[in-house]
This record gives sequence, structure tokens and C-alpha cells, in this order.
Amino acid sequence: MENAPNILVTGGAGFIGSHTVVSLMQQGYNPVIVDDFRNSEKRVLKGIEKITGKRPIVHEVDVVNKESMRSIFEQYTFEGIIHFAAYKAVGESVQEPLKYYRNNLVSLMNCIELCEEFGVKNFVFSSSCTVYGEPDGIVVKETTPVKPASSPYGQTKQISEQMLKDAIASKSDLRVLCLRYFNPIGAHESSSIGELPLGIPSNLVPYVTQTAIGKLPQLTVFGDDYDTPDGSCIRDYIHVMDLAEAHIFGLRWLTHQDDNTYQIVNAGTGVGVSVLEIIHTFEKVSNAKLNWTIGPRREGDVSQIYADPKLAEDLLGWKTKRSLEESLRDAWNWEQKLANEE
Ligand code: UFG
Repeated sequence: MENAPNILVTGGAGFIGSHTVVSLMQQGYNPVIVDDFRNSEKRVLKGIEKITGKRPIVHEVDVVNKESMRSIFEQYTFEGIIHFAAYKAVGESVQEPLKYYRNNLVSLMNCIELCEEFGVKNFVFSSSCTVYGEPDGIVVKETTPVKPASSPYGQTKQISEQMLKDAIASKSDLRVLCLRYFNPIGAHESSSIGELPLGIPSNLVPYVTQTAIGKLPQLTVFGDDYDTPDGSCIRDYIHVMDLAEAHIFGLRWLTHQDDNTYQIVNAGTGVGVSVLEIIHTFEKVSNAKLNWTIGPRREGDVSQIYADPKLAEDLLGWKTKRSLEESLRDAWNWEQKLANEE
């Protein structure tokens, strides 16, 4: 499309990024992906093309490299930016904290400074419910106090939000939306794109699907002695396409705001689901028998957290549409598709 607004999408080849690129293209935007593929694969571009009929624009650049990023800002007029590119493994961040601070914070600084320099106003930032730490309540609102982060990864998300807030307080022209993601799962319903974890996954649903397909021998449920109805931890699992769509609603909302806006919005379903419920629902939708066992708790896990999604609906007009069954079915279809390709 000739007049489609350009949106810079850093980390656009990643899991949430690639699904958001699909949504953007389908909603009449022209996403410009910046990704150096350190944590993603080029075949995702073919998948995006298969769904949308168009190869997305990609620049293979490290967002930490400001001069390379500047050259991209020089080539396009962007209506907005969605900044996904960041490291996200909680355990690794404890082992290599500086790697996390450098990558996640310098890349954000570059994006803020370049947006200011080039007059790009609409800024959507990938934040995480990890900023709530171990909350006092189970259902968290955007006003729920942020608790000390339990990992350097969590710290980077808290500092990032603060950095954006401080930029706004200093009379920056930006309009910022921080989306606090809960637990994204699933894949595009066509199975053309999905999650491609590097090595052994640390997240639950890819671990479940890889166990069911036989790549991994057994799933361990990390603890069944939590103070929850079935003893396993509770999270808010959101279909990745629902989350992708939140970015479109967020961008549209931002374009109607005054300059110098800073807003935090939860991106979740509002429904808490336990690890054991994930296993049972997965077995139901896949007709596969999962080999699982109960193990000890994993350090750093909060017992239960899920989103209050009201603000997202009131402010952005966005809410999730897809069920847990659909999410797990799409995750399973994607895993089977990968197995057929190998
Ligand atoms: N779990 C298992 N077995 C596994 C993997 C996970 O029982 O093999 C359990 C965990 O203990 C937890 C639940 O499944 O109760 C979900 O775990 P994930 O690792 O999939 O997700 P988390 O909720 O721990 O982490 C996610 C994101 C992080 C983010 C965090 C914020 O992956 O990036 O939410 O809470 F920081």
C-alpha cells in the first residue's frame, strides 16, 4: 500500500513481534522490522509473507547500535514505533545481568532519543507483568504498586518504564504506551508463524508441546503446594494474536492523544489458569497424552497473578477474543507443523 503509515518494529522477527507485524499489515500499516536475528529465525519472514501475501521490510540491525538505527530513521517517516527488541530470559538475566542492562536499556535509550530527534511521537513499549513482582493481591490493576524486581530482567522492565516516564516528565513530545504483557502463548491460527524457542524452553507452553511431540522426555510441574485451589501456580495466558492486536488498538489510541502522554495498560485476559489446568486442557484439545510429573518449586515464581483487563477495554477498546482452548490448539498445531518440517 502506497500510503500505509510506516511503523518501526524493533524485534519484529520475534514471537510477539512477528504476530504483531501480521496484524499491522492486515490493518493497513507498513511495518518496518529491525531485527538482527540473534533470537529469531529468518524463516519467520516467509511465514509472514504466507499469511499476508507480502514480504515484510526488514533491516538487519542491532538496536544498541545508534548510528545504524539513525540511518533507518533517515530512510523512513515513521508514524510510530513498537519497541519489542530485548532479552527476556529471567534465569539467564541472573547469570549475566550486565548483558541484560546493556541490551535492554541502551536499545531503549536509542529509540527514545531517535524518536525525539526525528519527531516520531507514538511509542509503544513492551513491558511485562513481571514489574508487579509478588503482588499483595492476585488480580493486578495498573495502579497496583510495583514491587522490587526479582531478577535483573525484571529490573530492566522497571527501569525502562521509569526512563520513559522521566522523558515525558521532562516535556518530551512523545506519547508513550507501556503494555504490560501477561503470559503470551499459542501461534497464528494458520500455523505459518509461532514461537521458536532457542534451546530448551523455559516457558510452560512450549515445554508442554515439545514434550507431547517427543522432543523432551517429561514436563515437570514446578510445585503443587502453593496456596491455590489445585496447588499449582496461576497465570494469565493470552493468545499471542490477541496480544498482537492490543498493539494496533494501542497505536490508534496514541495517535489521538496529546503530546507528552504516558500510559500503562495491562495486556491480559483477566482469567487465572493453573499449571495443572494447562496440562488438562492441552490433553483435551490435542488428544495427546502428556508425560508429566510434580517437582519442586522454581525459584522466583510468584504463586498467582492475573490481569485486571478493564482499563485496556475502557481506554483502548481492546479485549481478548480467543479462548485458552484455541491458544493451546494453535500452539499444538504449530509444534506439529515444525515437526513435519524437520
Ligand atoms: N512451569 C512449570 N514447568 C515448566 C515451566 C513452567 O511448572 O517447565 C510453570 C511455572 O512455575 C509457572 C508457569 O508454569 O508457574 C508459567 O511459567 P513461564 O515460565 O511460562 O512464565 P512466567 O510466568 O514465569 O514468566 C512469564 C514470562 C516472563 C515474565 C514473567 C512475569 O516468561 O518474561 O512472566 O511474571 F517476566
